[in-house]
Amino acid sequence: MIHVHTYEKWWIALTIVMLVAFTAAISVSAFANGIQLPSPEARVDPKTIAQTPPFDKPGLRELSPGKYEAYILAQASPWKFYPAEIRVKVGSTVTFYVTSVDVQHGFKIFDTNVNMQILPGQVSKLAHTFDKVGEFPYACAEYCGVGHQNMFGKVIVEP
Ligand code: CUA
Repeated sequence: MIHVHTYEKWWIALTIVMLVAFTAAISVSAFANGIQLPSPEARVDPKTIAQTPPFDKPGLRELSPGKYEAYILAQASPWKFYPAEIRVKVGSTVTFYVTSVDVQHGFKIFDTNVNMQILPGQVSKLAHTFDKVGEFPYACAEYCGVGHQNMFGKVIVEP
């Protein structure tokens, strides 16, 4: 029988407790809080994406009642999101497709689980169901230059 030092037993026990705690934390965030990872939907050319459908006309497309797709371009100099305003009825599910024409940006919609990195050359995709009436501002969440703080817009959820 090998002898395990008392302190070593404590460390082994602590490791098991931490594994259980982290697994529980990940499970709660994934299943209870609905945190989802944005998926890289497509590879695109950032130089021509603003002229390429559907990003040549950024904005909302209705797929069926209450189901939408939103195509959004992030841009530096001038620092903006196109479009800067999206309007839907309460209960609508919007799938966001966001890409950058230049540098790395972020896309975060406050009070939702939508928060993703926006890279030139890639379309990032994430869906959200807006089940509360109100305004949900979105903003760039990654520093992208001197006009970073000017990159914002809002989702208006109407009754
Ligand atoms: Cu775009 Cu910060």
